[in-house]
Amino acid sequence: MKGKHIVVGVTGGIAAYKAVEVVSRLKKAGASVHVIMTEAASRFVTPLTFQEISGNPVVDSMWSEVKQWQIEHIALANLADLFVIVPATANIIGKIANGIADDMLSTTVMATRAPIVLTPAMNSAMYLNPVVQKNLEKLRGLGYCIMDPDSGVLACGVDGPGRLPEPAAILQFLQTFFQQNTLFSGKRFLVTAAGTREPIDPVRYIGNRSSGKMGYAIASVAAEQGAEVILISGPTGLSCPPGVTRHMVETAAEMREAVLAEYPNVDVVVKAAAVADYRPRIVHSQKIKKSGENMELVLEKTPDILWELGQLKKQQILVGFAAETQELLSNANEKMVRKNLDMIVANDVTLPGAGFNADTNIVKILLPGGSCEELPQLPKNKVAEIILNKIHALLTKSI
Ligand code: PMT
Repeated sequence: MKGKHIVVGVTGGIAAYKAVEVVSRLKKAGASVHVIMTEAASRFVTPLTFQEISGNPVVDSMWSEVKQWQIEHIALANLADLFVIVPATANIIGKIANGIADDMLSTTVMATRAPIVLTPAMNSAMYLNPVVQKNLEKLRGLGYCIMDPDSGVLACGVDGPGRLPEPAAILQFLQTFFQQNTLFSGKRFLVTAAGTREPIDPVRYIGNRSSGKMGYAIASVAAEQGAEVILISGPTGLSCPPGVTRHMVETAAEMREAVLAEYPNVDVVVKAAAVADYRPRIVHSQKIKKSGENMELVLEKTPDILWELGQLKKQQILVGFAAETQELLSNANEKMVRKNLDMIVANDVTLPGAGFNADTNIVKILLPGGSCEELPQLPKNKVAEIILNKIHALLTKSI
């Protein structure tokens, strides 16, 4: 936290008093802390208290300094390395989840690109209300980090979930979150995902069963960990993960062009896409008419993008995938050497729960020195985390 700019948003709940200690602990941890209060919050704790503890002026109204508010909310939004809302009431959760920006806190949240942590605290029935739960789910999906509330007897006398965790626990959570979120800060990743489609005629193509889930999980986790991520994706119904820049392509040739354009300026490439190895030599401009009993299609090789990247490699860490149905390790090893890779992730796509279109994967991670780590069946985002930890070790030369 040392030297980092943390913006603390305080909203109007009884737990607002605990935010004072959170600010104090952040300061002691070396952070520069700026507090934005909602009007309701200032009824529980005075802005002066936060001003004294943080050592910075407290922003509590858009209108108190009419001439400056717009500059100020953008300035704090840009300054923040981390944004945390303590406590987060049902009201602020609902506003953020639905794009409402009608006060200083909600407008600043809307304008920031910093990671945002919310610590919900409210009456149990409110917290468990499906509307609040749906809003929290929506925010999680959009990349917001939610610290679950504690359970216990609340200020209103009800026993259940909704209590703000103790300040020490909040600080620990923020420190862990911050470390994870900055693992790859300053690093540029290029990730490819999904299968390519090679046209035969205007209505038909040669494709494969890749859904994009594995590559999207890698792009999403890398962005959560602070990387700038460019995702080159074949056709898929998946939406672009938060904080990721996506370019959609269709064919192997289009993927090659998009990848080569970004390649000189990235630190890491992860090629999870299932690129066609062959494409029709002739693409018919009109729909091919049904004629004889058989029909022959002549195929030609597509460019091997990963091999080309291996030849051009300079500073980049190059990670490939190998989708195999037999001789998993020897085939993957051969690809790693031939394509000049720093790591290859081998999946036996015949196993149930592995490979194409599954939500889980079963992989072996191979390095050129001969090391091989076998992972059990795991959700694709967990597989992504482990692959990224290995990439981090390669970047920091600790393996
Ligand atoms: O998308 P999902 O449904 O989640 O499925 C995930 C997956 C099975 C697609 C993924 O885990 C995976 O294995 N991706 C690689 C698929 C593949 O094309 O494997 P390959 O062994 O044929 O190719 C080896 C490597 O070379 C891959 O990194 C591939 O992107 C790359 N390649 C292949 C051919 C080609 N012309 N250009 C390439 O760059």
